[in-house]
Amino acid sequence: DTFPLHFDFTPSAAARADAEREAVLADPGFGRHFTDHMVSIEWTTEEGWHDAKVVPYGPLVLDPAASVFHYAQEIFEGIKAYRHADSSIWTFRADANGRRLQRSAARLALPELSVDDFVESLKQLVSVDRDWVPSAPETSLYLRPFMIATESFLGVRAAHRVGYYVIASPAGAYFPGGVEPVSIWLSTQYSRAGKGGTGAAKTGGNYAASLLPQEEAYANGCSQVLFLDSVDTTYIEELGGMNVVFVKRDGTLVTPASDSILEGITRDSILQLAEDRGHRVERRRVSLEEWREGVASGEIVEVFACGTAAVVVPIAELKGDGLSIVSPVAGPDSLTLSLRAELTDIQYGRRPDPHGWLTRL
Ligand code: COI
Repeated sequence: DTFPLHFDFTPSAAARADAEREAVLADPGFGRHFTDHMVSIEWTTEEGWHDAKVVPYGPLVLDPAASVFHYAQEIFEGIKAYRHADSSIWTFRADANGRRLQRSAARLALPELSVDDFVESLKQLVSVDRDWVPSAPETSLYLRPFMIATESFLGVRAAHRVGYYVIASPAGAYFPGGVEPVSIWLSTQYSRAGKGGTGAAKTGGNYAASLLPQEEAYANGCSQVLFLDSVDTTYIEELGGMNVVFVKRDGTLVTPASDSILEGITRDSILQLAEDRGHRVERRRVSLEEWREGVASGEIVEVFACGTAAVVVPIAELKGDGLSIVSPVAGPDSLTLSLRAELTDIQYGRRPDPHGWLTRL
């Protein structure tokens, strides 16, 4: 590899006019609109990482035999760029996302991109698409780095040709209700990840496995699905696209730990902020029974979901076949909403960044 990578730039001839872009930014939704450019970097076993460039956003041309289509050798990240009041643009814990992409790569037998090249790829894209970073409260530019096996080969082995890309999408709230509490559906029939599987990696297959139970969740009026440990179903793991955290009466925060859960960076940040305030944090096995009993006895006072896309959202209820666990209502004074406010204040530059989590783009 040449390190650090040098990026070439081809400006888009089809870049949207100001009025068109402003119309998108006024109501971005989540994951529906994309900016004018994207990053692309090639990797081969012979050459390593090379041909880094920022190019017009557009279709990828891939051979139908590209192994990503057949064997799902794919990983991705989710990270946001935030516009501060002085119009400067920052991203949050990019090094942590870069390291997680490396761990995912290792599990999926994909090549590792250096953390510096990862961060540079975000800088390169945001530097040409700065105008796409929205400025309204609670909006951001969601960055989606991903890596796929592009080699045309149907033998089942790690690909010798790989592509890494970054696309960007202006984002408002992930859930249509914003921070309104959501209901969660308990999937008992399906699991997301198995022992020794890819649960801890951010790979498309985990999300593919969540889609059918996610449909079940929608059919039951819920916005996310909760998965149990596939080996010992007395324990809970995580939601389809976010982690879950409990707040106990004495202020302790508890979150499930296992080697098949995605290590959420938003969750880690929230737990760090809670520790900074003197709260105890427990990362350990959590049983469904502990949730049920804790809510019934008043031992659990708040339950929330968190992720980069969703930020922090209170969980109102866990529903399942013959099951309903209604959480206490997370009021304006709840720890959930106060930690959410502290996190977003740091991300948007409204309060100091005590851990040096922000990187200027
Ligand atoms: C994120 O929160 O960034 C994720 O990647 C999960 C998302 C697809 C809901």
